[in-house]
Amino acid sequence: MGQTNNIKPRKTLGAIEPYSPGKPIWEVQKELGLERVIKLASNENPLGPSPKALEAIRNGLAELNRYPDADASKLKQAIAEEYNVASQQIIPTNGADELITLISEAFLEPGDEVIVPSPSFSEYDFGAHIMGAAVVPVPFAEDFQYDVDALIAAITEKTKLIYICTPNNPTGTYIAKADIEKLVRAVNGAALIVFDAAYSHFAEDEDYTNGIEFIQAGYPVLTLQTFSKIYGIAGVRVGYGIAPEFIIQAILKVKEPFNVNSLAQIAATAAIGDTEHVRASQSVNKAGREQLYKIFDSLGLSYTKSMGNFVLAHVGPEGEKIYKELMSKGVIVRYGKTWGLPEHIRVSVGTPEENAFFGEVLTGLLAKQV
Ligand SMILES: Cc1ncc(COP(=O)(O)O)c(C=O)c1O
Repeated sequence: MGQTNNIKPRKTLGAIEPYSPGKPIWEVQKELGLERVIKLASNENPLGPSPKALEAIRNGLAELNRYPDADASKLKQAIAEEYNVASQQIIPTNGADELITLISEAFLEPGDEVIVPSPSFSEYDFGAHIMGAAVVPVPFAEDFQYDVDALIAAITEKTKLIYICTPNNPTGTYIAKADIEKLVRAVNGAALIVFDAAYSHFAEDEDYTNGIEFIQAGYPVLTLQTFSKIYGIAGVRVGYGIAPEFIIQAILKVKEPFNVNSLAQIAATAAIGDTEHVRASQSVNKAGREQLYKIFDSLGLSYTKSMGNFVLAHVGPEGEKIYKELMSKGVIVRYGKTWGLPEHIRVSVGTPEENAFFGEVLTGLLAKQV
């Protein structure tokens, strides 16, 4: 019928790679007919959700006929108290993922540049591409250590955002406080530095900082946080940003009114005060990291010491095969190819039993290969 088709997505969408999430347990069970499947692929909390968050959700169910508080004021108050910042310096979001999109929408014009450590969390690229901005990847130095001089050297007049994921997903490495000072001084307000501190609660080294002290000191930087990791409530989707008020005001302009649902607000407000669950999660993670290190040591595999709740291991040229065989035996990990690391796998810290099961399966696979 000679129909014309003028319906074309924006050109910049061609640059977007679809996000590849860790496979869910049920899918692997169904596909492979396995009974026992463990997921060590999405850096979730193996202890489960904060019990206080669960109780709060149960108590909040009867109010679901009401719209959520558009300002998430109780949650903001709880975060303000936790970090000693003002409520106006906080923006809660539908997961930290949403915050990355909102930051991009608020600050990027087509042709702007976004500095992203490489390899790192893929959503920074996504945010840049939806706005038609260019990603400027800055590789890590040896052993995936942050190279602050390389980051500074990458800054141009077009740089609008600089992402610093610390601890970094997928490497587990972090940027030392002295290097942050150097970076903040070099940038001098010319671009917004975003510290992605999604894994900050797992980082215990003395020279680690989540960046909030720089906000308290008045620097124009933003710290991003999530309730998906230490607090164990990834399923309800809550993240937030802390920054000077003028930055938060700009991001609020692109936020939908009811971006954080009621149950998520209630759960997060309770979870932030659940110090027992936070401490237990930290100690399970610390011991679990050591357990994974021992497994890799015993197999002669190298790995990167991690300040997160995951470990990046170098399994060699058979990386993809190992990843697939682990899956076929019921162990879901993340294959490094998405980060340009085809010889690596990233393994989230699980419960002691899950880590041990992973160790047994991996040992069995490698023995078979010799
Ligand atoms: C570094 C990093 N930032 C942000 C997020 C997103 O967290 P959320 O679940 O709050 O969207 C993740 C999730 O894996 C992450 O690894």
